Amino acid sequence: MSKIRAAITGVQGWVPDFVLTNAELEKMVDTNDEWIVTRTGIRERRILKGEGLASSDMGAEAVKGLLKKTGTHPEEIELVICATVTPDMMFPDTANLIAFKTGMSNAFTFDLSAACSGFLFALTTGAKFIESGAYKKVLVVGTDKMSSIVDYTDRATCILFGDGAGAVLLEPAEDGTGIMDSILKSDGIGAVNLYQRAGGSFRPATHETVDAKEHFIYQNGRPVFKAAVSGMAGVVKEVMAKNKLAAEDVAWVVPHQANLRIIESVAHMADFPLEKVMINIHKYGNTTAATIPLCLWEWENQLKKGDNLILTSFGGGYTWGAIWMKWS
Ligand code: ACO
Repeated sequence: MSKIRAAITGVQGWVPDFVLTNAELEKMVDTNDEWIVTRTGIRERRILKGEGLASSDMGAEAVKGLLKKTGTHPEEIELVICATVTPDMMFPDTANLIAFKTGMSNAFTFDLSAACSGFLFALTTGAKFIESGAYKKVLVVGTDKMSSIVDYTDRATCILFGDGAGAVLLEPAEDGTGIMDSILKSDGIGAVNLYQRAGGSFRPATHETVDAKEHFIYQNGRPVFKAAVSGMAGVVKEVMAKNKLAAEDVAWVVPHQANLRIIESVAHMADFPLEKVMINIHKYGNTTAATIPLCLWEWENQLKKGDNLILTSFGGGYTWGAIWMKWS
């Protein structure tokens, strides 16, 4: 019998209706459309508006659409893993709230925190449950309401991020398709360059932490940029060399969407023409754990069974990695 692999058998994205354009940001901070477009490639991003709406609500919308399109009853789902850095609360976990909101009452749930690499880390984790043979239907969700931790007076970060969610269904495949290999990495050296300082056990919330704006995301862009390019290009080449894949064997590269210049550099260093690279950063900005499933969702109709895909990401921590999969 051939090895059980985890196959993505459905993908669904969800983004809020409200569009925050560069023109709108020009009125909020000292920036301009030309700087944002040339330095990042971003033209607009979606923002979740509405009292009491959180990351779980976006995740639940993606999950509802996914269950419907795959003809899956919510009670069939056995495990939900949610990648997020903007959980609804410190606990209970956001995956639990998504399961509750969508009727997945037979699933056990947990969150996974790996910043912009969260989706790849969660996808690899979910795949292991399928590969073990013990689980048949696993949902992996990436959802982030980045607008809840962005300081809209800080021009260095507020132009970058947007809100969104994406979800995939993982099921066993024995036809040679599915997740073939992954290489994931972490290095705490990046903690000084990208973080949300307060709100955890290190700096519990106080008037002082709020006044000091420590509940917002902070990023030292230049070192993160360099580390993102070398990290992603390195791990993409590593997973391809390990599996004897040449650039021409790969149908699509699915990179985390943090900066168009990062994506272009990684593609160049790994010898991929940009036509093979999924890019939608101009519409959504950086939605953290949602960027990769949102790409897969938008390109789904162009993907053919057996296509080789390379997924890659880099984020806070640092965390980074690459996955090779054959589309199912
Ligand atoms: N509008 C106009 N000017 C700006 C803006 C803005 N929005 N933001 C910064 N500037 C200015 C700076 O003040 C600086 O001015 P100075 O030269 O007078 O000091 C100048 O533009 C250049 O600033 P840099 O920060 O060096 O700009 P850079 O080209 O590095 O672009 C950016 C900044 C877009 C943040 C880039 O560094 C980047 O993309 N970094 C990596 C992002 C990333 O991959 N993050 C990881 C994932 S996120 C996660 O895990 C949650």
